[in-house]
Amino acid sequence: MIAPAPSTAAIPFLDVQGLTDRVRGDLDRCWREVLSHGRFVGGPHVEAFEHRFAEYCEVAGCVGVGNGTDALELILAALGIGPGDEVVVPANTFVATVEAVCAAGARPRFVDVDPGTLEIDPDAVADAVGPRTAAVVAVHMFGQMADVDRLAALTERHGIALVEDAAQAHGARHGGRRAGSVGVAAAFSFYPGKNLGALGDGGAVVSDDAELVARIRQMGDHGRAGSGRYLHEVRGRNSRLDSLQAALLSVKLARLDEDNSRRRSVMQRYRDHLPADCVPLASHPSSEPVHHLAVVRVPDRAAATAALDAAGIGWGLHYPVPCHHQPAFAEFARGPLPVTETAARQILSLPMSPTMTPEQVERVCDVLSRVEPT
Ligand SMILES: Cc1ncc(COP(=O)(O)O)c(C=O)c1O
Repeated sequence: MIAPAPSTAAIPFLDVQGLTDRVRGDLDRCWREVLSHGRFVGGPHVEAFEHRFAEYCEVAGCVGVGNGTDALELILAALGIGPGDEVVVPANTFVATVEAVCAAGARPRFVDVDPGTLEIDPDAVADAVGPRTAAVVAVHMFGQMADVDRLAALTERHGIALVEDAAQAHGARHGGRRAGSVGVAAAFSFYPGKNLGALGDGGAVVSDDAELVARIRQMGDHGRAGSGRYLHEVRGRNSRLDSLQAALLSVKLARLDEDNSRRRSVMQRYRDHLPADCVPLASHPSSEPVHHLAVVRVPDRAAATAALDAAGIGWGLHYPVPCHHQPAFAEFARGPLPVTETAARQILSLPMSPTMTPEQVERVCDVLSRVEPT
């Protein structure tokens, strides 16, 4: 018998189509339900999702908002953080973390990351905390939580807020604690590519602090007073979660743990089959990551990406230009952050989706094992 030829079909960086196909039937049902009550913003589907997501994150409360960037900005603003305050952030994050700090009116204070995990470095945070520091944002990068044990001890000692940016870490744990349950509040994004992704923009704040959740709900709903539709108690804005997105997010939440465990299997297969010079990022011993991204360090990124392109394999870079080198945030840069800068030249994100097959993972590894340095 002739062995089947190895598949040469394209492998997407993220299998958006495959993930969407799985919920096509649910989407039809969600649409019918939302159309039947006509509450397109807020309403029973949003309430049900908020309840389920708070429970999932092992916290008391949740409020749906427009996106993850709003979630972060609203947390900072609701904590009273603004002009004159500094907020410590890792330089290795998506720019949204920094945008939120600036939008709240505070100044970002960039710090370096741990060389193994590329998560915010608690020692660097300790050095950066000063009289103006109002908060530290623990960004859980790539699906792994930051070292929240050390960050929580540090922020508690200084009497400042620990805020979690959990946009890339739905369902992750550190020391047994869920992403979103450690800080005073946490921001989540439901951008379609996230581990829990909507079919459009969406976000949420979770917290054990009921007053903070209520304040954020009010700020995201034009500052409306609970007692009156026409009374605006504070200056707010519009940042709310749509019903249809919430209905679908509830469906997807029910399979999040299974999807995260598939991501773990994909990552393990990468570890087993990647060539020795493609090195996945380290995991903290207390961490249970959910592998939002499969980030490796490679010796010759140009050669690796050329080989992946030639084989029809998607890839990404998270992130090639650190935040303190972005023109938009140049005024906040204070000098080199060597770990972040070195990593920015070496990192490569490989395809990662819960729908990836073992054969697809092995094909990516095979292509990388044939890369000739340029
Ligand atoms: C670390 C991080 N923070 C914040 C955000 C912002 O989320 P959104 O795109 O929903 O505004 C993202 C999303 O890309 C992110 O990756």
